[in-house]
Amino acid sequence: MIRNLLFCTLLSLTYCHQPAAQPSQPTASEHTLRSTAAFPVGAAISPSLLTSKPAYRQTLEREFSGITSENYLKMRFVHPEKDRYDWTGGNTIVDFANQTNKRMHGHALVWHQSVPDWVTQFKGDSLAWEGLIRDHIQTVVKQYKGKIAAWDVVNEAFLDDGTLRPSLWTEHLGPDFVARCFQYARQADPSVKLFYNEYGQEYSAKKLAAVLAMAADFRKRGIPIDGIGLQMHTHIDHPDAQIENAIRQTAATGLLVHISELDVRINQAKAANFVPTDALWQRQKAKFTAIVTAYRTLVPAAQQHGITTWNVSDGDSWIPSFCQCQDFPLPFDKDFKKKPAYEGLLSGLKP
Ligand code: G3I
Repeated sequence: MIRNLLFCTLLSLTYCHQPAAQPSQPTASEHTLRSTAAFPVGAAISPSLLTSKPAYRQTLEREFSGITSENYLKMRFVHPEKDRYDWTGGNTIVDFANQTNKRMHGHALVWHQSVPDWVTQFKGDSLAWEGLIRDHIQTVVKQYKGKIAAWDVVNEAFLDDGTLRPSLWTEHLGPDFVARCFQYARQADPSVKLFYNEYGQEYSAKKLAAVLAMAADFRKRGIPIDGIGLQMHTHIDHPDAQIENAIRQTAATGLLVHISELDVRINQAKAANFVPTDALWQRQKAKFTAIVTAYRTLVPAAQQHGITTWNVSDGDSWIPSFCQCQDFPLPFDKDFKKKPAYEGLLSGLKP
């Protein structure tokens, strides 16, 4: 007995070691955004963070069922020179989505921003411009056929007053360029879902009306369109009623509805030396609940393309650099810890 004890004691220095108690693993029943939602819950992501930040990747894998390409499928990144496409960043994102069985949403084939220099300097007649945009759209859509489920075909074509935004595209392709971009995308892939994506429908009645009128016009003319994106870059002071109205009216089109770029600012006044308070965290939580509940209850299940936050955590949000201020607009903090806003989003997802 003593010999055995001695033997085991000696051996314990090598083989009898009992593993330390494992840290408590989340229980399988622990709710996550993706396990709670009846529709895809996505995030707009960056390929560099995906490969450089394990916590970023782990949060995406655990919590999200959808992915949007934040920047790397925009023209400036994916088509940097006239005769050169760069699929690197897009492939990293698309491969991650496909390998982790998340719905991939491509952003954005045609936009007035993120246009490469070779396009802004392009010289050609209207036929040449038409070929430029058609070739871009069809090359990119065909590249990801079967891997990208939906595209933002055109992004932000309207101004807040409801008029068409003057851009390179209206100048060289004319005011009906949006319709033709949708036709080119459809020709490239008969099954991919085609979205028009916009911001401000919740605060500009004129912009909302313009988007809905365009969608109705497309349906009448047989222009292929499957869905409308409401970006929903909003803040804690924005009235729930206006948000609900935008969602309700968009759902009434019968098209798919995507809250495509959700973030909820708490420092919309861009106050210097801003320090969040618990009261502000609770108001942000309530706003996430209100938005998600409105989407879940006002959009028929068959039209629920899903809700996508723009970026994953406060640490990778675009907002602070955009507003040049301190702000914390997302459900996860810079260390990917769940904030009250996470609980707000989660409770909005629950029927
Ligand atoms: O990657 C380049 C880097 O190589 C270069 O040195 C640097 C300086 O020029 O630029 C870097 O690219 C930046 C890119 O983000 C990637 O980080 C661009 O400057 C910067 O303008 C770009 O900002 C993006 C912005 O769209 C414009 O494309 C934001 O990250 C992105 O969150 C934002 O997203 C938009 C949606 O597409 C449409 N809806 C509004 C939303 C917020 O503006």
